[in-house]
Amino acid sequence: MTTNGATNFLFDPALLPSTYKKLPKHITMRPLSRDENFAKYMDLLDQLAQPETSNGPRPSQAEAQAHFDDMKRGGVTYVVIAEDKGTGDVVATGTVLIEQKFIRNAAKAAHIEDIVVSSTQRGSGLGLIVIDTLNHLARELGCYKTILDCAEKNVGFYEKCGFTRSGVEMKKYHRKGNLRQSLSAVMKYVMDAGGGISDYMYTGQETESVYRRHRQ
Ligand SMILES: CC(C)(COP(=O)(O)OP(=O)(O)OC[C@H]1O[C@@H](n2cnc3c(N)ncnc32)[C@H](O)[C@@H]1OP(=O)(O)O)[C@@H](O)C(=O)NCCC(=O)NCCS
Repeated sequence: MTTNGATNFLFDPALLPSTYKKLPKHITMRPLSRDENFAKYMDLLDQLAQPETSNGPRPSQAEAQAHFDDMKRGGVTYVVIAEDKGTGDVVATGTVLIEQKFIRNAAKAAHIEDIVVSSTQRGSGLGLIVIDTLNHLARELGCYKTILDCAEKNVGFYEKCGFTRSGVEMKKYHRKGNLRQSLSAVMKYVMDAGGGISDYMYTGQETESVYRRHRQ
């Protein structure tokens, strides 16, 4: 995928650096595309998940494209891709989100997320190039700082990228999705297990009516 079909990109490729000091010749940097093979992209993102967690169910290509459209409409999320020009494989990725503040004279801050280099490509400077690219975007988009959270084992990497320790990460997880969707999934599981119900997902309304029928 080249940077020519610009309309399908998440953001204008002109925002990317015009040259890269240490980018290997077989790698190209570009924005995430609507034409991405999202299954392969998710394979790479799966390398981010901790053994005790998961990235959840895989979206279909169409669902991923709808998500991409939402992301593009939102206009605050910038996902960069390092692609192997020979194989077309996505070998590294990173995301920067732009936060508009009221304070500091309506300044903008950049938040880095989801940095991953394919396990076969680590140790060749690609992670550093992804971070440099995201920092370049942050500057181009008018941010006065870039911040990120990371695991203790990656502190050394981010220090090599010019970051310093600051503050403490705090976390609170929220229950996913809306109640109807959750109920729908639970009902499907229960009905499939007990009643031989065919393989389709109830809508929220169907779930409620099935639930009512089975309570009677
Ligand atoms: C962390 C990660 C992105 C680093 O990517 P990478 O391409 O291997 O890193 P680079 O080759 O660009 O390394 C740049 C420098 O950081 C150093 N470095 C890399 N990972 C490091 C680590 N975990 N701890 C300390 N130093 C590290 C390298 O030795 C190199 O130093 P040098 O310039 O003196 O040679 C990669 O290991 C990865 O994808 N890990 C799994 C996903 C993950 O943990 N992502 C981060 C989420 S916060």
